[in-house]
Amino acid sequence: MIVLGVETSCDETAVAIVEDGKKVLSDVVYSQIKIHEKYGGVVPEVASRRHIKKIITVFEKALTDANIDPKNIDLVAVTTKPGLIGSLLVGINAAEAFALAHGIKCIGVNHLTGHIYANYIESDFTFPLLALVVSGGHTELILMKKHYDFTVLGQTLDDAVGEAYDKVGRVLGLSYPAGAKIDKLAHEGKHTYKLPLTYLDGYNFSFSGIKSAVLNLLNTLKMKGEEVRVNDLACSFQNSVVKVLVDKTIEAAKEYDVKHIIIAGGVAANSSLRSEMTKAAEKLGVKLTYPSIKYCTDNAVMIAVSGYFQFFTNFNEN
Ligand code: KG4
Ligand code: ZN
Repeated sequence: MIVLGVETSCDETAVAIVEDGKKVLSDVVYSQIKIHEKYGGVVPEVASRRHIKKIITVFEKALTDANIDPKNIDLVAVTTKPGLIGSLLVGINAAEAFALAHGIKCIGVNHLTGHIYANYIESDFTFPLLALVVSGGHTELILMKKHYDFTVLGQTLDDAVGEAYDKVGRVLGLSYPAGAKIDKLAHEGKHTYKLPLTYLDGYNFSFSGIKSAVLNLLNTLKMKGEEVRVNDLACSFQNSVVKVLVDKTIEAAKEYDVKHIIIAGGVAANSSLRSEMTKAAEKLGVKLTYPSIKYCTDNAVMIAVSGYFQFFTNFNEN
């Protein structure tokens, strides 16, 4: 079964073609990061207009790269939520028009399920499975007992992890998105600053406290005329955030007796999160997977894979 996926929920215009949920025939991502960098974050109006400018070219390239005739495509899957509405609409309209023109069925996919299914490209799922979805807009712990069965155990009550990274990065003078830059600096520093860790009851998260603590610390150091050791601050921030994420994930993995933990979303590219979660999962004796870096951030391959499983789940249940 050949699925064409479309993703335009934020600042990436992406189209991909995937066979049987695993074989990537084409994977085209046009990133707008350079355009939004100067504003310190994604500007919704600018993002929608840029998607309009790029969507046809990206569609054409995905078809050319896969060397496929549209009549051989069985399903179109497009991100319909969550995301910036103006951006989403560009992808939805393009996907619906393509599907209508070629007589193909078109289905809507939730972006977060896409991040989870990005893991399936390189490894099969073993249930029950626990997914830690960490991106610029979301932080969620999701339990899956079978394919396409999602129970949200907890989520952030304020900032998403990626958002906290980007905001801390901004005050440290790093350009948007700052996650990967802080990750790199963290490895050049030491954990010398004490920052608060927020452990809420159950599986919800909160990252606004640690973000404010970094801002307050910077202001205090500046007022006292003391040096800010940026690398050490990056390391202290990263260690603290990763510790909470790993501790909560392992707690849930034990409670629900899961066989597989996956990390998904842009922050799944974080080197400390990957290495600390690997150690903790090994200790627990549970399989751990995370996607290759290119499938951590937004792409359309993950939407095609998620669409493939959604189609079969609905098909089998109806
Ligand atoms: O999944 P994604 O591409 O977009 C959303 O759906 O939000 O995630 C983007 C987020 C940004 O906040 C970025 O700073 C963060 O992922 N990110 C990282 C790393 N690479 C990307 N955060 C921490 N460490 C990284 N290595
Ligand atoms: Zn995303």
